[in-house]
Amino acid sequence: MARNLLTITPVTPAIGAEISGLDLSQPLSEEDFNILNETLADRQVLFFRDQAKMSPEAQVRLGEYFGPLHVHPAAPTLKENPGIFVIHTHKDSVISNGDAWHSDVSCDEEPPLGTILQLHQLPTNGGDTIFASMYAAFDALSDTMKSFLCELTAIHASEHVYRNRYADRGVEDTSKVFPFSSHPIVRSHPLTGRQALFVNRTFTTKINDMTDGESAALLGFLFDHVEKPEFQVRFKWTENAVAFWDNRCAQHLAMWDYWPEERKGHRVTIKGDRPTYQASRA
Ligand code: SIN
Repeated sequence: MARNLLTITPVTPAIGAEISGLDLSQPLSEEDFNILNETLADRQVLFFRDQAKMSPEAQVRLGEYFGPLHVHPAAPTLKENPGIFVIHTHKDSVISNGDAWHSDVSCDEEPPLGTILQLHQLPTNGGDTIFASMYAAFDALSDTMKSFLCELTAIHASEHVYRNRYADRGVEDTSKVFPFSSHPIVRSHPLTGRQALFVNRTFTTKINDMTDGESAALLGFLFDHVEKPEFQVRFKWTENAVAFWDNRCAQHLAMWDYWPEERKGHRVTIKGDRPTYQASRA
């Protein structure tokens, strides 16, 4: 059977690609998988429009081409399919997932490789997601700052993020211990070999081997730096569009600017490796 050829259109010089000619609800060919895998590592976030609504099984199948699924340490999953994390914000929500800059669950020892989100219900306006290139953020630093940061590690904690976060969805977490980990501030992408800054305002709490004051000052600089508009792409969702982002080299922010309207979808998250830093070969 003839099928459309997959096309890739970069969105900004730094980040993002629109992919067309692919129905994500169907099994992926090996060739298409390889193209998506390479393009994801290069462009950091892929956008797919004009998609059919994926069943939970189809979305889990799509995620599993890229690796085993990640189990979220706090969020409830869909009862019928534990691979699905329901993204849902409405007029009675007390929090909205992802409404501060973050790389998903960077507090885990092995933070997620990537995340695939399909939104089924959108507000009339707003509810965009903004993605930022951590390759571009690293590349924009001076050589002196790059060398300094490459030696450093930082704590990514989550108690302050997750405790009671999902109480309104029936999650009781009194006896739970939430993850925290130490990660390099600069991580090397295992596919591209490029360096990416790996600190985010949500989870990164302290730079190791520094005083509190030194750490706060340097993190303040880094948080402002990674959130600069020139590293960003902004995705305006359409019904059943899909965004697939690489948490190893991008971070994101989901705008909650549409209250009291509702926004809903399904996310699958792919397990990743322990972040490491390797000096560039060049
Ligand atoms: C998230 O961080 O997973 C939420 C992203 C979004 O809802 O756009």
